[in-house]
Amino acid sequence: MNTKVLEEELNKVDICGEAPEAEPYRQYYYIKKCREIIEEKSRKLGRPLTASTVTFGCQMNARDSEKLAGILEQIGYVMTEDEHADFVIYNTCTVRENANQRVYGRLGALGSIKKKNPHMLIALCGCMMQEPEVVEKLKKSYRFVDLIFGTHNIYKFAELVAARLESDRMVIDIWKDTDKIVEDLPADRKYPFKSGVNIMFGCNNFCSYCIVPYVRGRERSRNPKDIIREIEQLVEDGVVEVMLLGQNVNSYGKNLDEPVTFAQLLREIEKIEGLERIRFMTSHPKDLSDELIEVMRDSSKVCRHMHLPLQSGSSRVLKVMNRKYTKEDYLSLVERMRTAIPDISLTTDIIVGFPGETEEDFQETLDVVRKVRYDSAFTFIYSKRTGTPAAAMDAQVPESVVKDRFDRLLAEVQEISKEMSSRLTGQTLPVLVEEKNDHDPHLMTGRLSNNLLVHFPGDESLIGKIMDVHLKECRGFYYMGEAAPKRGR
Ligand code: SAH
Ligand code: SF4
Ligand code: F3S
Repeated sequence: MNTKVLEEELNKVDICGEAPEAEPYRQYYYIKKCREIIEEKSRKLGRPLTASTVTFGCQMNARDSEKLAGILEQIGYVMTEDEHADFVIYNTCTVRENANQRVYGRLGALGSIKKKNPHMLIALCGCMMQEPEVVEKLKKSYRFVDLIFGTHNIYKFAELVAARLESDRMVIDIWKDTDKIVEDLPADRKYPFKSGVNIMFGCNNFCSYCIVPYVRGRERSRNPKDIIREIEQLVEDGVVEVMLLGQNVNSYGKNLDEPVTFAQLLREIEKIEGLERIRFMTSHPKDLSDELIEVMRDSSKVCRHMHLPLQSGSSRVLKVMNRKYTKEDYLSLVERMRTAIPDISLTTDIIVGFPGETEEDFQETLDVVRKVRYDSAFTFIYSKRTGTPAAAMDAQVPESVVKDRFDRLLAEVQEISKEMSSRLTGQTLPVLVEEKNDHDPHLMTGRLSNNLLVHFPGDESLIGKIMDVHLKECRGFYYMGEAAPKRGR
């Protein structure tokens, strides 16, 4: 919700009385309460208090961080990237073991910073906090942490911060699951011109290797009206591109009182005037409908990109993974998409070394990679997640075998990706200009509809605009280009 509307709501709140029960009004009450405390602290210190959010996970995790930052700003903190801040929150991920290890590593360092600044507050939230053994470990060995909460009660952040500000103890609040979706809370967007938009939460698929359904709970779709209203407000605020977020967007709307398909939702979003580009993530192949392919084909706003996780090319492994499609189903889906939308860019996720994966299984994965020819692929080494069915399976693949397969897969994926990426050379295509180039201040960086990056000479006034760029040269996974004479768009 935009800050003006929120400010009007906050003006109506009386913090002398009891906190209201209904959401989001209860959170407005706590935002105002925290504001008083932070104002007081800042007066005593003679400077504004600063806060920093650190995102460890996926796009949904990143969107949650924007919501946390939105609340922190409303409470009175000034946001910074620096972890030497007065309030630091780690939004954690646990999808693979290395995501977990990164959190512990950085938390140790944060503890040392806090020793020098005892007033600092440290909060942890996100998927890792939904695992009871993690919270036990934190309670035992990381006593300096001030606030711990999980994925289901993030909307209560203002209330939890108030609880910590009003006491000196570690505040811990973890819920097992929820069926609640709270609307109309603030978010602080990282980019003024593009934004993630949650369309659903949780996951019901229980792929046998994956921890997400356990830490994000059951699938819940947002009401289409709320989604449209949020996007309309974003567009009013200057957003031209949205990324619709869900663990499996293709099953959107199935459990709503009045069921709606994802394709229908896209058609509605497409009608929003001023919105230029629509992306979405992630599509599960088992639920991808012909209706969705049609909507994409006929749309001028839905981007020419589909992220379609394969996980494995072996039908035998896919069955044990509980993915509910075969190699043949997947290949035929790709063919249908390519026939309908020839310029579509396909990307994927692949796991190597799933328990029991043989060389033959792995060859099937390579076969799919060669047949589909992905524009790019994220390749992961299987990571055992306690509590998932795969963790208890026999025949975990030895590390050296997995490493060898991973290297072979990566080489194949990269070679194909280079060839695929370069196929647009010489064309002039619309680019959304996103930022100044990190390495060369004379260059701007933008994104094509198919998600590839383009660097071209320009200045910061172009940021947030969609303009035609001539793609002169492909350098591996990005283009060097030149602004085309104005044709408008
Ligand atoms: N909902 C999305 C994926 C979310 S997790 C989907 O179904 O496509 C992102 C990716 O992490 C997955 O696609 C998978 O490739 C990878 N992943 C999930 N669990 C993993 C595990 N235990 N080990 C290795 N990679 C994993
Ligand atoms: Fe995990 Fe599968 Fe759900 Fe994706 S669809 S989040 S891989 S369980
Ligand atoms: Fe990680 Fe949670 Fe996303 S486990 S990948 S942050 S849903």
